Amino acid sequence: MGGLGELRRTYDGTPLERGDLHPDPMVQVAHWVAEARDALDDTTEVNAVALATADAEGRPSVRMVLLKDLDARGLTFYTNLASRKGHELRQNPYAALCLHWTSLFRQIRVSGPCAEVGREEAAAYFATRPAGSKRGAWASHQSAPIEDRAALEARMAHAVERFPDDGDVPLPPHWGGFRVTPVEVELWQGRPDRMHDRFRYRRDDAGAWVVERLQP
Ligand SMILES: Cc1cc2nc3c(=O)[nH]c(=O)nc-3n(C[C@H](O)[C@H](O)[C@H](O)COP(=O)(O)O)c2cc1C
Repeated sequence: MGGLGELRRTYDGTPLERGDLHPDPMVQVAHWVAEARDALDDTTEVNAVALATADAEGRPSVRMVLLKDLDARGLTFYTNLASRKGHELRQNPYAALCLHWTSLFRQIRVSGPCAEVGREEAAAYFATRPAGSKRGAWASHQSAPIEDRAALEARMAHAVERFPDDGDVPLPPHWGGFRVTPVEVELWQGRPDRMHDRFRYRRDDAGAWVVERLQP
């Protein structure tokens, strides 16, 4: 498409220095997420994250998901377990995540092994979802083709008949969460002249986190 080459912005973020970084990358990530929540308005989904998976042959695919939990164990999202991403994570249980907040000139990358969360934890999260979203999880064979919108609506109508009580829509067996255990975490702060600040956490042989500044 013509003109894209002319799009150019100056990234003018607050400098990021080694001394600003918490030794634990998950504490640092939580800190940046909290700052993004404070700084950005409601139209920005601060917890929207690109999730990359790969199939058994290493062919990648990427899509957005919503981060629903963030703690010392890792980063958690919820989805249909039988979706494309669900299949890929079963074949190849590693994932990469990328958060980006345009107006803050910040990007966070996380990668590591990815495992399904326990059924109790998934049920506890599922219980907090609106009834419509719960029924939608029953109605959709996520990532499978369907002939038309009417067929999809019919599946939803069937879910409404099956679970008429808003307070009583159970966790579908095909729905759950995945948690990415970080082994590599990078914080990126955009700076002028493409001279960005980048710091990457990785574990040394003893398992301790080491932080390295990377060239932009
Ligand atoms: C901002 C945003 C947030 C999304 N959040 C989720 C999510 O939390 N879980 C999910 O399964 N799909 C979510 N989706 C839809 C996915 O991007 C994707 O279409 C779907 O999960 C099927 O992906 P797959 O076929 O690769 O498995 C979201 C889409 C957008 C644009």
